[in-house]
Parts: sequence; C-alpha cells; structure tokens
Amino acid sequence: MRFELEFFTVLTVVALLFFSSDAVGSTGTLAISFGTGTVCGISASSLPRAVYCTNISGSVSTSPYQVLSTVSFDSVSAGDAYLCGLKTGGEAFFCWNGDSSSIKRVYNGSPAVADLTVGETQVSAVDLSGNGIRWWRTANLFPPSVLGNYSSLTSGNNFTCAINTNGTVSCWGPLNNTMQSRFSNYSMTTIVAGDSHICGLNKSGFVICGGSNSSGESYAPAGSPYEYTRFALGSRHTCAIKRPNGIAVCWGGPGGAQLYMPLNGTSFEFLVAGGNLTCGLTTNNYTVLCWDSHFRNVSVRTLPLPKILPGICVAGGDDICSCGTYPDSGSLCAGTGVICQRCDYQNPVIASPPPALAPAPSGSSVHIGWRVYAIIGTVGTFLGLCAVAYFVWLICRRKKVHNSVMPTIAPPSASNNTGVATAITHSSSGGNGGRIRFYSRSSSAPRSRIFSRQWSRALQRQGSGPSSFKDHADEFSFQELEKATKFFSLELKIGAGSFGIVYRGLLPDGREVAIKRGEANSRNKRFQEKEDAFQSELAFLSRLNHKHLVSLTGFCVENDERLLVYEYMKNGALHDHLHPKNNDFESPVISSWKMRIKILLDASRGIEYLHNYAVPPIIHRDIKSSNILLDANWVARVSDFGLSLTGPNTEEGHLETKAAGTVGYMDPEYYGTNQVTVRSDVYGFGVVMLEVLTGKRAIFKYEGGDGEPVSVVDYAVPRIDAGEVGSIVDSRVAPAASQEVEALELIAYMAKHCVRLEGRERPSIADVVVHLETALALIEDGLRSGSSTSASIHSLETRD
Ligand SMILES: *[C@@H]1O[C@H](CO)[C@@H](O)[C@H](O)[C@H]1NC(C)=O
Ligand SMILES: *[C@@H]1O[C@H](CO)[C@@H](O)[C@H](O)[C@H]1NC(C)=O
Ligand SMILES: *[C@@H]1O[C@H](CO)[C@@H](O)[C@H](O)[C@H]1NC(C)=O
Ligand SMILES: *[C@@H]1O[C@H](CO)[C@@H](O)[C@H](O)[C@H]1NC(C)=O
Ligand SMILES: *[C@@H]1O[C@H](CO)[C@@H](O)[C@H](O)[C@H]1NC(C)=O
Ligand SMILES: *[C@@H]1O[C@H](CO)[C@@H](O)[C@H](O)[C@H]1NC(C)=O
Ligand SMILES: *[C@@H]1O[C@H](CO)[C@@H](O)[C@H](O)[C@H]1NC(C)=O
Ligand SMILES: *[C@@H]1O[C@H](CO)[C@@H](O)[C@H](O)[C@H]1NC(C)=O
Ligand SMILES: *[C@@H]1O[C@H](CO)[C@@H](O)[C@H](O)[C@H]1NC(C)=O
Ligand SMILES: *[C@@H]1O[C@H](CO)[C@@H](O)[C@H](O)[C@H]1NC(C)=O
Ligand SMILES: *[C@@H]1O[C@H](CO)[C@@H](O)[C@H](O)[C@H]1NC(C)=O
Ligand SMILES: *[C@@H]1O[C@H](CO)[C@@H](O)[C@H](O)[C@H]1NC(C)=O
Repeated sequence: MRFELEFFTVLTVVALLFFSSDAVGSTGTLAISFGTGTVCGISASSLPRAVYCTNISGSVSTSPYQVLSTVSFDSVSAGDAYLCGLKTGGEAFFCWNGDSSSIKRVYNGSPAVADLTVGETQVSAVDLSGNGIRWWRTANLFPPSVLGNYSSLTSGNNFTCAINTNGTVSCWGPLNNTMQSRFSNYSMTTIVAGDSHICGLNKSGFVICGGSNSSGESYAPAGSPYEYTRFALGSRHTCAIKRPNGIAVCWGGPGGAQLYMPLNGTSFEFLVAGGNLTCGLTTNNYTVLCWDSHFRNVSVRTLPLPKILPGICVAGGDDICSCGTYPDSGSLCAGTGVICQRCDYQNPVIASPPPALAPAPSGSSVHIGWRVYAIIGTVGTFLGLCAVAYFVWLICRRKKVHNSVMPTIAPPSASNNTGVATAITHSSSGGNGGRIRFYSRSSSAPRSRIFSRQWSRALQRQGSGPSSFKDHADEFSFQELEKATKFFSLELKIGAGSFGIVYRGLLPDGREVAIKRGEANSRNKRFQEKEDAFQSELAFLSRLNHKHLVSLTGFCVENDERLLVYEYMKNGALHDHLHPKNNDFESPVISSWKMRIKILLDASRGIEYLHNYAVPPIIHRDIKSSNILLDANWVARVSDFGLSLTGPNTEEGHLETKAAGTVGYMDPEYYGTNQVTVRSDVYGFGVVMLEVLTGKRAIFKYEGGDGEPVSVVDYAVPRIDAGEVGSIVDSRVAPAASQEVEALELIAYMAKHCVRLEGRERPSIADVVVHLETALALIEDGLRSGSSTSASIHSLETRD
C-alpha cells in the first residue's frame, strides 16, 4: 500500500509549464524513424513509463520490444536515422537506431531538458534552467546552444526551428534562412517540421507552410480558423487532423496538393509521420494505425503496440493545464500526473464578437471570482450514468419519490436532528435506489440521448408543483444565455475545463450567475463525454439542495449545446485563497484560523449530506480545495459533480470503477483497487485539511528537501506523529492563542486519520463534522475543554 502512496511523491515538476503550453511540437508519445523502419511509443497506465518499439514492416503478430525496462520515459522523438527518448524529469535522454541493443545515453545530468526533438542528425532540446535551446550531434552545422525563451521546438533535415515569445519563428542550421523567411510576416503558435518543409498555425488559426514544395507538401489548405491542427510531416507529404471530427486529412506526395482522407470515419488524437509513413493514435482506444502516404489509401494497418498515451504526462494537478486535462489522465499516467488537453481543440471560434464589453472588474476578490468556475469544468467524467438511470427511474415514479430525493435538511448550523430524521425516513420509503450497477459508457450512450429529451420534458411537466425541480433548475433558451454572457465574450470567461468554458453572466432579472458551456463543435467521443458530464452534473445538482453544496440555477439543452447555470460564488475557491498567485493578496482566509476552520466545517457538512442524507448516497470523487467555493458571505460550498457517482447504501459497500480524480487528493486505496467508497472522499478531505493547516499545496516543492516535489501528506503526517504540529502550521496566520493550538492539534490528528492508507481505518465524514464543530467551538468560545478534546483524539486513535 505504501507503494501506491509513493506514486504521489515521486513527481517531478520541472517541465510543467513548458508542456502545458498548447504547442503541437515534434516531441510526443509516438515517433517514427522511417530510415530504420521503427515506430516507438510510450505505453499508457504503466510505471515505469515504458517505451515500446515495433518494426514497421514486421508482421502484426510480432510482439513489440521494450527499450530499457528500468527507465521511465516521458517522450520520444525520431529522425530518419535514429530515435531518442527523454527520461521522466528530463535529466537524461537515450538514443537508439531501431534495435534496442544499440541504445546509448546521450545526455545525463543537469540542467534538465524538455521538448526533445531529433532531426536528420541533430538532437535538440529546451534547457529548462536557462530557457535556451541546446544541440547534440551537430556535425558543426548547429550552434551548441542559444539563449532565449522558445516554444514548439522542431527539427528537420538540416534545420531546427522554434517560436519566440513574440510569435516570430527562428531557425538554425544550414537551411535557417529558407525556413525562417517564410514565416517573417506571421505570428505563429505552433510549427512542425518534416524532412525539408515545415507547417504550422498562425495566431489566427490559419495553416502556413514553407520549405520544399516539389510534391505540393507545402500547400496550405484554406478553411476556418483552427480547422486543421496537429500536423505530421513526412519526406514529401503533410497530414493534419481536421476539426471538428478528428479525421486525418493529407496532401502532398505523388498526388500533389490535392487533399485526401486516408481513413474517413476514424477519429485521431494526433498524427506522426516519417518518410512515406503516417501513423495516428485513434481516439476510441488509443491504438496506432498507420498508412503509406505514397500510395495514399493502401496498407492501412494497426501496429502491434500497447495502448499509447494520448499526450505527455506532466506532474501536477488539473490546474497546471490551461485547457483542462484528459478525463482519464490519472489512470493513464498511473497516478503520477495528468495529460493536458491541447488548447487547439478547445478554441471554439466565437462567431460574433460582443458589441460592447462589460467594464472589467477590479479588486482582488472579484479577480478571484473570475477564476472560480474553472473548477466546475475541471474534470470530465467517466460515467455518472448511474445517476442518469436513477433519475429516469425517479421520473417514472413521479412525485411520490420525487420528494424523497430532496429532503429538506434544516440548515446545518442548527445541527437539526429532526431534519436528519426526516431524510432517513424518506430514504427507507423511497426504495432501494442505491444498488445501481455501473454502466459502461458505450452501452448506455443511446439511453443518455433519449434521456436528455425526456429530462427536459419532465422538468417542464413538473414545473407546477411547489417542490418541483423547476424551483431549482430553470430551463433557459440558448439565446437568453448568449445575451447574459454578451455572446460568450472572452472578457467574461472565468474558467475553462475539459468539457466547457465557464463565463460570468447577468440574467435579465439581475441575478449574477456562472454559465458553463459544453465545448462546441466537438468530435463524437468528446460530445459523448460532454453529454455524460452534463447529465451527471444536472442529475446530481438538481436533486441536491443544501446550503453547503453549490446550487444549480438552470440549464439549456438546444441541439448540440449543453449549458449549466450556477449560482455565482463571489469569493472564489478555497484553493485560490490558500495559494494566491499574487503575494500581496490579503484574504481573510489567509489570516484567520477561525475562518479556515469554519470553511472546513461548512465543506464537511456538504460532504456529509452527500454521503449520509442523499438517497442513494453520492460519492463526490473529486474533493479538493479548488472544488470548495466561497459565496459572498464566505459560506463554503462543495462544487463540481462531473465525476460523482451514486454509491452503495452501506458504509462498507463499494463501486468498482476506473480510478478518477485529482493527483494529490486521490485515495491511494481507490487508485490501487479501483474500488471507490465514501471513504475515498474522506481521504480527499483529509488532504484539504492538511492544506488548510499548513498552507501548502497538495503537492509542493519542499525547500528544506532536495527540491523534489512532496505531497502534503508525506510532509505533514510524520511531523504530526512526532507531536510537532506547531512546526507545520501555516506561518502566514498570526501565532495561535492557546485554545487555537488545541483546535489545530485536533484538526491535525483528524486529518492524519483521514489520510490513512486503508479506507476502513479512516473516520466517517460525520466523525469529521463532529470534530470540526469541537475545533470551531474551541476557538469561538475560547472553551477550555481540554479533557473532551483529548477524549476525541483518543477515540480516533483507537478506532479499528
Ligand atoms: C523488420 O521486419 C522485416 C520483415 O520482417 C525484416 O526484414 C527487417 O530486418 C526488420 N527490421 C528490423 C530493424 O528488425
Ligand atoms: C525567459 O522568460 C523568463 C520569464 O518570462 C525570464 O525571467 C527570463 O529572463 C527569460 N530568459 C531569457 C533568456 O530571455
Ligand atoms: C545538410 O547540409 C550539409 C551542409 O550544407 C550538406 O552537406 C548535407 O548534404 C545536407 N544533408 C542533407 C541530408 O541534405
Ligand atoms: C521577436 O523576438 C526576437 C528574439 O527574441 C527578436 O529578434 C525579434 O526582433 C522580435 N520580433 C518582433 C516583431 O518583436
Ligand atoms: C544560417 O545559414 C547560413 C547559410 O546557410 C549559415 O552560414 C549560418 O551559419 C546559419 N546560421 C545559423 C545560426 O545556423
Ligand atoms: C512580407 O511582407 C512584405 C511587405 O508586405 C513583402 O514584401 C514580403 O514579400 C513578405 N514576405 C513573405 C515571405 O511573404
Ligand atoms: C494568419 O494567416 C492568415 C492567412 O494567411 C492571415 O490573413 C492572418 O493575418 C495571419 N495572422 C497572423 C496573426 O499572422
Ligand atoms: C505548393 O504547391 C502548391 C501546388 O502544388 C501550391 O498550391 C501552393 O501554394 C504551394 N505552396 C507554397 C508555400 O508555395
Ligand atoms: C467521408 O464520410 C462522410 C460521411 O460518412 C461523407 O459525407 C464524405 O463524403 C466522406 N468523404 C470522403 C472524402 O470520402
Ligand atoms: C516513398 O515511397 C516511394 C515508392 O515506394 C519510394 O520510391 C520512395 O523512395 C519512398 N520515400 C522514402 C523517403 O523512402
Ligand atoms: C480499437 O478499436 C477498433 C475499432 O474501432 C478495433 O478494431 C480494435 O480491435 C480495437 N483495438 C483494441 C486493442 O481494443
Ligand atoms: C484507393 O482509392 C481510389 C479512389 O480514391 C480507388 O479507386 C482505389 O481502388 C483505392 N485503392 C485501394 C487499394 O483501396
């Protein structure tokens, strides 16, 4: 079990920001070395992250061979003559010429490098310490290094190019001028090199190609902005992925500039090319399909490689990706990081710019508010369809059951037992809705589409009753929401996630809301994910009504548009208060223990409601500080139900599902066994408590250590065990008074129990609520109830 936990501590963050850019680049998780007849890729869901290679012309039944089974790799790149792989963390790279016996370590040491690319002979990479570019195997045709901040490094035959921070392209090597001059009038976002030509997207999203054009390979197809992305360039051809459906489109070669689709109907995540060969990673199951671009449509075949990562795993949480993460990144990266979505797929072209923009908000609390709703869209969902199925069942049962799913719990501040009793009675009369099995997405896809229509009608039908859903969720027309957000003005954008962009909006009645719009023009799989996440959140949120859960104001389902409208949380996410980007930011949360404990208590009550009073119980699965939002009165609410599942009724029960969540907060037992229980949320909440106590991020770089990122759990638990709570408390708060010290110790001990490796050893969320109430009382009243405190701690220590 320790082993799983260590996944969270071996993270290396060096290359984060670099990779989180939206560059198409020429480094990646799959590479073709045409000259040596080899295709290599980084396999998904394994540690150490393995590079597997296969012979292009070998038979389909040949098993691929692994390169250096003891080394973990992040990325691979290839030239015609050899391939190279960058070791996880970037401190070394290895090159080989096709067969694994030839492997050589080419670079070993510091500084770490990233964006490794291989050209005809030269290898180049970005130096992460000096922000420059370095070359190896230059044959005196390339400088050893250059200074500057560059992105989208790419190498071809006798040239290497990269983009400066201002968007201009710089090139080196004998062909530097030929390549560079083509781009002198453009501001570029990405470039990719082939043997002797280069293509990319300029900042307006148009294709620009240059260099050799003897077979029409430098043709630039016209189209709408961002219609062609993720280029793959071979010796005499170019391929790109066409939005919105992800199919491969190619040009060049004997057929000239005319476009063709080698595999109409197959959606790809990305393409790579070398010589005459082009390969793509399929969206549906991440397998590698290749075709010969010389004969165009012949010899399409699946390579015998394992499932390949759809992108480079980077250490950290969702918040390091500017366009959200792959929904299953946690398990694809085997718990050691996330894969960022490429921004090029997420930039829906906003048709009409708003006529006039709202005055930009000012002041730090507003500023945070603008970022708040990133959380709502932070993660995709695996299914949430249990909830949908459950809800269909509810609608069939109509009002009788309907009341039972929305027990009116008394405001938690009163800790009202009557409210609790009512809910429990309802739960027993409401039948056993809890044992709903896990549905796979594919089998329930049609169900969910039919459902979306029923849903809408059901809401309208029930709109008259006093306790109807309509009280909680209004159906809006797309036009109304367009107006509220000034046509989805980028100025009003407050966040972006895997399944949508969140805007601040103003309804005609003056209510301020946050509006999440599911990504427009998506490919099929993405649409289904968007649909699932949408249905999951809608189903959960509209049946939940609790002071400490973020509430849904409404929704909109029109054609392919899926929007959710939430109450606007003025004070943003707890995460942003604990870890402000701007150091001058004065937050009342930073300076007061009472405030911090109150927020923890509020949030724990929200989770308690999900676990103990919702029928069937709900497992949130993504408890973290960025999902705890603060309203205008600093009352905390739990948000983001995109990953939530309805759980089994009993405390002991569990659901089997692929692990999902956020690195640093994810229950190691869940990760290890794929069994999720309510105690997985307790683990996440334990991490949040440690974050609040120490002021450290869930995963942070410890100055006192060797610079390796460490999880707050590994940092805090040994010190709590050693009785040194005082040494870890956040020093940004004024030194604690004596009753505060007691309260903090109580929280520290409780947090320690919440993050135990074994779920059954963790307290229930109800225990956590009780202890937080005690801690808050200690501070509020200055209660000197030392004996009751130690009794509480004792009861936790002796729990089996
Ligand atoms: C690749 O496979 C072909 C046909 O099986 C074989 O002739 C060739 O030697 C192999 N190449 C390598 C590098 O193993
Ligand atoms: C690169 O950018 C960073 C911050 O943007 C800056 O501090 C650094 O000096 C730059 N490096 C070079 C070589 O321009
Ligand atoms: C690369 O450039 C060098 C020097 O200009 C030249 O000798 C060599 O033939 C070129 N290589 C290729 C493959 O074109
Ligand atoms: C862009 O930056 C490069 C190097 O940093 C510089 O040489 C070039 O003049 C800049 N171009 C513009 C248009 O500012
Ligand atoms: C650019 O190309 C010219 C001529 O091909 C060569 O003399 C010069 O050294 C190259 N510059 C760099 C930075 O590679
Ligand atoms: C760039 O623009 C200038 C002036 O408009 C023009 O003379 C030049 O040919 C252009 N260069 C390219 C590569 O298009
Ligand atoms: C991008 O290319 C298009 C088409 O050539 C051009 O109209 C546009 O001005 C370019 N934008 C930038 C930022 O270079
Ligand atoms: C390349 O050739 C095609 C015709 O084969 C032409 O349409 C295209 O404009 C050319 N591209 C460049 C960059 O010259
Ligand atoms: C690709 O498939 C779509 C729908 O199946 C069809 O409309 C289109 O014509 C096809 N395109 C090509 C180039 O075959
Ligand atoms: C591409 O395929 C054609 C036909 O088989 C061949 O003549 C050509 O040499 C190949 N190109 C490369 C770079 O191998
Ligand atoms: C991937 O999906 C394709 C069809 O979409 C199927 O033919 C193939 O067998 C699948 N491969 C794996 C490894 O599941
Ligand atoms: C390739 O496509 C052409 C038409 O696009 C077709 O006539 C030909 O039969 C196809 N060849 C193969 C091997 O599928």
